[in-house]
Amino acid sequence: MCPQMDKDVQIETSPNGQNGQGGNMSGKFYVTTPIYYPSGRFHIGTAYTTVLADSMKRYHKLKGEDTYMLTGTDEHGQKIQQKAEDAGKTPKEYVDEMARMAKELWAKMDIEYNDFIQTTEERHTKIVQKIFDRFMEQGDIYKGEYEGWYCIPCETYFTETQLVDGKCPDCGREVQLMKEEAYFFNMKKYVDKLLKYYDEHPDFIKPAYRKTEMINNFIKPGLEDLCVTRTSFDWGIKVPKDPKHVIYVWLDALTNYLTALGYLSEDDTLFKKYWPADLQIVGKDIARFHLIYWPIFLMALDLPLPKTIFVHNWFMMKDGKMSKSKGNVIYPETLIDRYGLDATRYFLLRELPVSQDGIFSPESFVERYNFDLCNDLSNLLNRTVSMVNKYFDGQVPEYNGTPNEVDREFEKYTFEQINKFDEKWNEYEIANSIQEIWNLISRTNKYIDETMPWSLAKEEKEEELKSSMYHLIENLRRIAILIKPFMNDTADNILRQIGVNDENLKNWDSLKGEYAKIKKAKVIEKGEPIFMRLKPEEEVEYIKNAMKK
Ligand code: ME8
Ligand code: MG
Repeated sequence: MCPQMDKDVQIETSPNGQNGQGGNMSGKFYVTTPIYYPSGRFHIGTAYTTVLADSMKRYHKLKGEDTYMLTGTDEHGQKIQQKAEDAGKTPKEYVDEMARMAKELWAKMDIEYNDFIQTTEERHTKIVQKIFDRFMEQGDIYKGEYEGWYCIPCETYFTETQLVDGKCPDCGREVQLMKEEAYFFNMKKYVDKLLKYYDEHPDFIKPAYRKTEMINNFIKPGLEDLCVTRTSFDWGIKVPKDPKHVIYVWLDALTNYLTALGYLSEDDTLFKKYWPADLQIVGKDIARFHLIYWPIFLMALDLPLPKTIFVHNWFMMKDGKMSKSKGNVIYPETLIDRYGLDATRYFLLRELPVSQDGIFSPESFVERYNFDLCNDLSNLLNRTVSMVNKYFDGQVPEYNGTPNEVDREFEKYTFEQINKFDEKWNEYEIANSIQEIWNLISRTNKYIDETMPWSLAKEEKEEELKSSMYHLIENLRRIAILIKPFMNDTADNILRQIGVNDENLKNWDSLKGEYAKIKKAKVIEKGEPIFMRLKPEEEVEYIKNAMKK
């Protein structure tokens, strides 16, 4: 898999134009992940955000849109400088090696990113300096003095009142009192404009309660101007006209979403094409930076704001936060190597609720694997393929599109579930949206018991037997398309096993319109199970041991 290749892939809009939007869906979709600190191995939390962004991208691609996904690493600052020193490397050597590791993980996870930005690249540093200069010229940035409580790991200053028991409110670690000459960004100037923007753009922040949090916790108490430079370390982008100052990591980091597209550079084709971003995904830990400072920077640059910033919750462990010292970190490789990529991606998206943190537990992983993937999905495919072989020599019967009593309700339910999935997915209720697909899978399993194909065969009710087989195959096809954005290989595997080769029956549009679609399909002779039942105790043990390493 080569993620970069995706750049050249031509997107064809559907020839039959059945997308309900006048036929030509030429939308574009630019999605970003945070740029992660390359300060250690990425765990399932980091993987979650990236898998979600990738799945969103694939979903929009399936709909025929021109998609672009950006990810990368946030490589400046004191913490990274320290890590490099500990590793006996120069900071640049260190971050390059970490970025290589990140790319390896994303390749393993089949992440179709179009670009990976490192903030130490010249294409980024040069433009950050231009932006800084512009803010100075506009009077948005001014020189002053900063004193505050600084948390090194979080690279954030806190006021006395923000501290919790004298410690960092974000990570709970020790903070130090520091004072330095510094440049500030005049946030106050933009506050009213920001509030007005929030108000007029209900889609800007998802879920909406995050907006209320920002207003109550940060804006109402009085938004402070943001310190945007440091003199206490030098691993960073220098202030052009005052090089003993380096630009503070957040002004540096946030602008990556622009610089990666060539903003203010010679070739800004991508910027013209894809900005503003359609979806920026972040975890709740960095909501404040993305929901307050980021839009204000964009306003100061006179640029349109992203359509939606989606803030997700965290993956926690039973005993709290994942941490190496507790020996409770779970890395994506552990799950992928033993249970496969699709099971891992499924679990991540299925298990994190919208309104609260999710808990990773080995038990829930094994349970979801056995129940959802093996019992529900894999068995549905197996039973269906073997029945089509048994009753029709593998040939999928054709359907005239006139449903009988049982089928009418079943078809209606199928369309409803597809719509429910779509609505929830587009509201970023990811776990719930996937639940709707699994409701459809359960209903399809139930349809087998309802129609009792074995009795139909015995009683030689040929037409009803044909209809039953057709409906099962058609629903498997639909289920495959629905899961394709997040379980690509499984989807392709299902389509291959049920003999659907026609590309027009593999895209999003083919979920719409009439129910009867499949012609001349032949299932494979012997079904191949896509997920095999796990022995619960053994596998729970396996995962627990891997977490301790
Ligand atoms: O904050 N559960 O980088 P970072 C879910 N460089 N998601 C999690 C998670 C968890 N337990 N832990 C991390 C930074 N994440 C900055 C970002 S952007 C301009 C700069 C995910 O390496 C989640 O998306 O600390 C979170 O926001 C991000 O990783 C933080 O990554
Ligand atoms: Mg962090």
